[in-house]
Amino acid sequence: MLRTPILVASRSAQVRTAVTHAPVTRSVVRRFVAGEATTDALAAVARLQADGLRVTLDHLGEDTLDAAAAGRTVQGYLTLLTALDDAGLARGAEVSVKLSAVGQAVPPSGTSPHGPALALDGVRRIAEAAYGCGARVNLDVEDHTTIDGMLAVLRDLRADFPDVGVAMQAMLRRTPGDLADLTGPGSRVRLVKGAYAEPDSVSVGDAAAVDLAYVRCMRLLLAGQGYPMLGTHDPRMIEIAGSLVEEFGRTPDSFEHQMLYGIRPDEQLRLRAEGRQVRVYVPYGTDWYGYLTRRLAERPANLLFFLRSLISR
Ligand code: FDA
Repeated sequence: MLRTPILVASRSAQVRTAVTHAPVTRSVVRRFVAGEATTDALAAVARLQADGLRVTLDHLGEDTLDAAAAGRTVQGYLTLLTALDDAGLARGAEVSVKLSAVGQAVPPSGTSPHGPALALDGVRRIAEAAYGCGARVNLDVEDHTTIDGMLAVLRDLRADFPDVGVAMQAMLRRTPGDLADLTGPGSRVRLVKGAYAEPDSVSVGDAAAVDLAYVRCMRLLLAGQGYPMLGTHDPRMIEIAGSLVEEFGRTPDSFEHQMLYGIRPDEQLRLRAEGRQVRVYVPYGTDWYGYLTRRLAERPANLLFFLRSLISR
């Protein structure tokens, strides 16, 4: 119920200033974000891999209108990939990229590349570096207005890097139709419920409707020939995934579970101990505001945790 108002409020400049300057914010951020520096990300990767978990790393940033900022994000990923490779941690790792962080919304200015062309160029450079060191790339999904552009970039990228992954949101009505083109051999798709405040015209409805849609999409992916990546912490969805995996005769190496850094870490280890592949989404960097507010909006308990820390100071 609180989700949409929190997401809407988080777009206000005053709320942003209040949250980013609150003295307690850092302790809350540390719960969901691995740290601000590349070395923090590496330390988290080393810990998770030692526990048998896979990783996908997000160099935090989104919604930039500035080509220079988009370039800095690309450079951040390139630095990360070099550091992962040097530390012997790159093989099997993945990076998750938001196209809005690498220029998808940058407006035209003179003859410089902008918009989708700029984003495609940036993510292509990231993919070249990732594939060069045994890592992979996934495109995060953002709000519904960006999806046609994201799928166009995905098609271009997959011509050269066929197993670039993509996230899809069960909460959008269009998703089953989009998935029809994404269940071929080797197609890596991360299914999530969806973290953005979407209008009724494009969304399937309330939380119960989103859960039903999530099951329907899981079924499409697990019945297909691709590599489903089930991004959810929801115990019911995880249980239903188990039944569908049996129904479709999926082997443990033909799909994976994914969860966010700091959320249900015991469940991540439990699934791994049962022989499932589990990948943890590890965000790091200084631009954590948008990521943090989506995590607070998802779960009232997280917001209470944040407010309690404010009061108890
Ligand atoms: P739901 O929100 O219904 O929660 C079920 C249970 O999970 C809760 O009762 C609680 O136990 C636990 N839980 C869930 N969220 C929690 C939280 N924030 N803190 C503590 N406990 C929590 N979205 C998007 O729009 N684009 C994307 O690219 C991605 N990428 C992505 C990658 C990965 C690996 C994951 C796991 C998720 C995303 N998401 C995302 C976010 C996703 O859309 C969704 O908002 C969250 O995963 C929360 O939905 P759940 O499926 O976990 O269920």
